Amino acid sequence: MRHLLTLFEITQSELADILSVGGQIKRLLASGRRPPWLAQRVLAMLFEKPSLRTRVSFEAGIIQLGGAAMFLGQDVGWQSRESTDDFVRVLAQYADFVVCRAKSHSSVVELAKHDCIPIINGLTDMAHPCQALADLMTMQEVVGSLKDRQLTFVGDGNNVARSLALACAMVNMRFRLLGPSGYSMDEKWIAQIVERYPHADIVQSSDPRVALKGTDFVYTDVWTSMGQEQESAIRRAAFVGYQLNANLMRFAPQQARVLHCLPARRGEEITDEIIDSPQSIVVEQAGNRMHAQKGLLVWMSIQHRWVEPLALTSEGIHLETTVPR
Ligand code: CP
Ligand code: NVA
Repeated sequence: MRHLLTLFEITQSELADILSVGGQIKRLLASGRRPPWLAQRVLAMLFEKPSLRTRVSFEAGIIQLGGAAMFLGQDVGWQSRESTDDFVRVLAQYADFVVCRAKSHSSVVELAKHDCIPIINGLTDMAHPCQALADLMTMQEVVGSLKDRQLTFVGDGNNVARSLALACAMVNMRFRLLGPSGYSMDEKWIAQIVERYPHADIVQSSDPRVALKGTDFVYTDVWTSMGQEQESAIRRAAFVGYQLNANLMRFAPQQARVLHCLPARRGEEITDEIIDSPQSIVVEQAGNRMHAQKGLLVWMSIQHRWVEPLALTSEGIHLETTVPR
C-alpha cells in the first residue's frame, strides 16, 4: 500500500509521474473535460488544525474526478474516543484514502503503520509534501526542467522548508535556506536527504548575498507556524531583517519569481508590494495544490490497480489518450 508522509516514500521517477499526471488532468480541465477516473472513491479528511487550501483543494479535486470527500473534525474522536488502531482500521472499511493534517508527525506515521488505507500527509509539524508537489508543478510551469535551477527559502527550517529541501534534491535543484542563525533546518533531516540523494545541494546561510545570488525562485512562509503561537513575539524579533521586501529582493536576480505557501501574514514575512508584484506567482501556486493532488490521487489509484483503463507505458503514464467519453 502506498502512503505519502514526507516524499521519502516515492522515487524520483514516481514524483515525475505524479506531476505529469497532475499536469495532464489540469490540461483536460482547462479544455472542459473532467473524466470521472475516481468515480465513487471516497476520501476521508482528518484535520486537527485549520486549513483553507489543503482542505478545499482535496475536496474539490476528488469531486471533479467523480468521487467524494468526507471532512472529519474533532467530533469523530480520533485520539480521544478510541485507540488509533481501531480508528484507522474502521475508517478503512468506508473510505479509499485518508488525508490527515496532524499536530504531530508521529500521528500520521501511526495511521500509516496499519497499512490498511493510503495515508496522505496534509501537513504536520515535520513536513508538508502536498505543498511541495504543487510548488514543483508551479516552478516547472515557469521554467520547464528544474534541473540546475535554484530555490531560496527565506524563513525558518520549518515543515514547508523541509519538504522543499527534499523535493529540490529529487529534481536536482539547488536549495538555499536564508534566515537567522538558530532557526535553521535540523541537520538530521538534511543528513537523511543527502543519504538518499548524495548529489543534494543544500546550503543554509544568514547572508542574503550568499543565499539569494543567482536564484530562480524566492519562497517565504510565516515566521510562526501553527502550534508555535506562544513564540510569536520572540520569532518576530529574530526574523527582523528577513522580511521579503524590495530591499531583500535587491539581492535576487530581477527575473526571480516569488512563491508563498499561504496563508501570508502580510506586513510581517512579506510586504504587499512583493506579494502583489508581477514577480509573484502565489495565486497560481495555490491553484496548483488541486491539480498536483489530483495527480497524486490518480497515481495512487493506478498503483493500487483501482484505475485500469489508463495508458501505462515505459515513458510514463499517459492519461490524455484514454479519456472516457
Ligand atoms: N498552504 C496551505 O497548506 O494552506 P492551508 O493551511 O490553508 O491548507
Ligand atoms: N509553516 C506553516 C505552513 C502553513 C501552510 C504552518 O505550519 O503553519
